[in-house]
Amino acid sequence: MNDHTPMKIFLDTADTSAIHKYFPTGLIDGVTTNPTLIMKSGRDPEDVYQELKDMGISDISMEVVGNSSEMIAEGSRLYEKFGKCCTVKVPCSPEGLYACKQLSRDLINVNVTLIFNAAQAILAHKAGAKYVSPFVGRLDDNSISGLEVVRSIADLYCRQGVCSTEILAASIRDVHRVTRSFYNGAHIVTMPPAVFGKMYNHVLTDKGLELFDEDWSKVTSNSGPSFGSFSQLQEANPGNELKDVMQKVRECSS
Ligand code: G3P
Repeated sequence: MNDHTPMKIFLDTADTSAIHKYFPTGLIDGVTTNPTLIMKSGRDPEDVYQELKDMGISDISMEVVGNSSEMIAEGSRLYEKFGKCCTVKVPCSPEGLYACKQLSRDLINVNVTLIFNAAQAILAHKAGAKYVSPFVGRLDDNSISGLEVVRSIADLYCRQGVCSTEILAASIRDVHRVTRSFYNGAHIVTMPPAVFGKMYNHVLTDKGLELFDEDWSKVTSNSGPSFGSFSQLQEANPGNELKDVMQKVRECSS
């Protein structure tokens, strides 16, 4: 069964330092990796997966390659090794979908990646996929609206009463496409850490905060005991770990 928490956010990266930075926010529901991201990390893929598992990440997409028997063997081995946090990622090819069918029969979660239209999403659902990953940014790069592809898959699944396969919008390059992917029916959006950081930002939030801080210090300088500014109040609370996390988020997203 799928966990139907709305609007899940995944980080699309194998850079564990970025995940360490953002996971403590409590807003990250999973991580997706792919061979390119693993290659960029310069690390052994299984060291990366182990570190993510130890961090407490409960859903990690681990991509497998080769022909269908190789994908099935490797997917089963990864599931054996990492357990329930392992989601096996396969491409939307005949070999990949055959592997998806076999792995999902064994109750292993499968993310079918490299989805570029609704026809592929039909096949992936029929192969038992837990997730289908339409590549929004790569469609946009090819003058096809990635967000419209997300919408078409969502409409189709809705009309046909598909609940067992969730839409995981991938290849996300900006905050606008995160929001619109959810509007258009994606259940999950996976994004680079930098895009996640930018989701916090709004110039009016910064201005508003500055003004509140300024006014608060006027209030406390006029009467009674000095409470200090908002930031001083936060500093005064040594147990406020969230403050440290948010400070890191602000540094990374500015
Ligand atoms: O994880 C797959 C996907 O998100 C890749 O994104 O930016 O390489 O198109 P991108």
